[in-house]
Amino acid sequence: QSQTSDSDQGSDLVVVANRLPVDRKVAADGTATWKPSPGGLVSALEPVMQRNSGAWVGWTGQPGDAPEPFEARGIHLIPVELSKKDVEDFYEGMSNGALWPLYHDVIAQPQFHRHWWESYVRVNRRFAEKAAENSAENALVWVQDYQLQLVPQMLRALRPDLRIAFFNHIPFPPYEIFAQLPWRRQVLDGLLGADQLGFQRPADANNFLRACRRNGLATRRGLVHLPAEPRFGSPDHHPSREVRAAAFPISIDAEQVAALGQRPDIQERAREIRRELGDPKVVLLGVDRLDYTKGILHRLKAVEELFAEEVLSPPDAVLVQVATPSRDRVEEYEKMKRDVEVTVGRINGDYGQLGHPAVHYLHQSQDREELAALYLAADVMLVTPLRDGMNLVAKEYVATRHDEQGALVLSEFAGAAIELPQAFLINPHDIDGVKAAIVRAAGLSPREATRRMRAMRRRVFEFDVARWASTFLKVAASAAEPSTPGRVT
Ligand code: ADP
Ligand code: G6P
Repeated sequence: QSQTSDSDQGSDLVVVANRLPVDRKVAADGTATWKPSPGGLVSALEPVMQRNSGAWVGWTGQPGDAPEPFEARGIHLIPVELSKKDVEDFYEGMSNGALWPLYHDVIAQPQFHRHWWESYVRVNRRFAEKAAENSAENALVWVQDYQLQLVPQMLRALRPDLRIAFFNHIPFPPYEIFAQLPWRRQVLDGLLGADQLGFQRPADANNFLRACRRNGLATRRGLVHLPAEPRFGSPDHHPSREVRAAAFPISIDAEQVAALGQRPDIQERAREIRRELGDPKVVLLGVDRLDYTKGILHRLKAVEELFAEEVLSPPDAVLVQVATPSRDRVEEYEKMKRDVEVTVGRINGDYGQLGHPAVHYLHQSQDREELAALYLAADVMLVTPLRDGMNLVAKEYVATRHDEQGALVLSEFAGAAIELPQAFLINPHDIDGVKAAIVRAAGLSPREATRRMRAMRRRVFEFDVARWASTFLKVAASAAEPSTPGRVT
């Protein structure tokens, strides 16, 4: 629906995200390769951008100079440079040491440092400038996620012709928590540079609207009214306008994921995985980035107790936990990684046998084919985050299960729980509740499994990522039309 003009004029659709969809990995001998980037943002947006021509502005995942723009995986990529210090202060510090824990219900203690904030402002400006240089006249620029909340306002100042949209992939916290942020007004102002703001759940959009009201702005049915006055110390005069905020739950490319589950070689690999695990009766599976929000330790505690009580007994029942390495220089992540290692070691020491560990723990990223085979091999998928914007793993599991078998245990604190009520919904803090759900899921009759899985698959196929993107972009384009209330002056 959008077209790339020639490179001098820029693109008509520009995604701006902290990460590019590919991650530059440098080996010990200095050779560099590109790997898919971790996380749900890239999983969701990559298929969208492969279908729409446009450009993607982002970071390569490595400190140092940015390479020239290039094409990869069918997308035009425009790298932004982050120095080693930017990585420490903007990425590991402000983004992942302050905003990430704050926005995820302060599960970990956020830290606020003024030099982190200064770096956040500088790096957001760099992203805004790069997007401004690469956008065609009247282009739609779609800014992504908590790392870039100041970009909408900065971009509007640089290029008033652009239509600007922002999508927040993670939760937006209740005001009582958001208010802790020393730079809360600057963040609201930054976001309000957009014409359209998108959130995962209605509760996130409402939390944002409430934060606006608490900061003196009038809101009316999903619209924030910005008066004509200069606000928050800005010397420039701005005409009044309105910003729209609403929920657009993100999804996956269900057809693409399902196609993997249909492939005979992947089905054979799933059978082979079960053989490699020793042909257990019950395979439990966890697939996550190694992040404290994912509730991996709560999940391990529940499984350990079930083993101790012999409700489930290795080697007849095993847990496979695959965890992508993530943000491992941030203190809370280092600590969590050690805790997971100690816990897995203890469970295996107590319940493993020679050649038959009770928990198979892989601290590795797996390719899409191997993940699909693992999903097919699993009787019970454990998705137990303490807080999660959406959680695409839950949707990928459902889409892969064309056999309509398998059971999903899903935290009610994941955005996905709203769409998948046929899962076994749990409160991950209630360990007895998690244990009971695992036992029910493991003992599910094939008929009941089909009933639940069929309903969940219907939802995931109907509301896939293509629908998410087209709905969002349509609303965003109309929000910026001069004839609608989006740009009343
Ligand atoms: P988040 O964005 O917080 O990481 P999501 O569940 O929304 O959480 O998205 C995670 C994405 O990363 C999914 O597309 C999933 O397939 C992928 N993923 C998770 N763990 C692994 C792994 N060990 N190897 C490869 N991909 C993984
Ligand atoms: C989540 C965030 C993304 C982020 C991803 C991976 O999905 O919402 O913005 O890119 O995690 O995290 P990383 O820090 O490796 O980019």
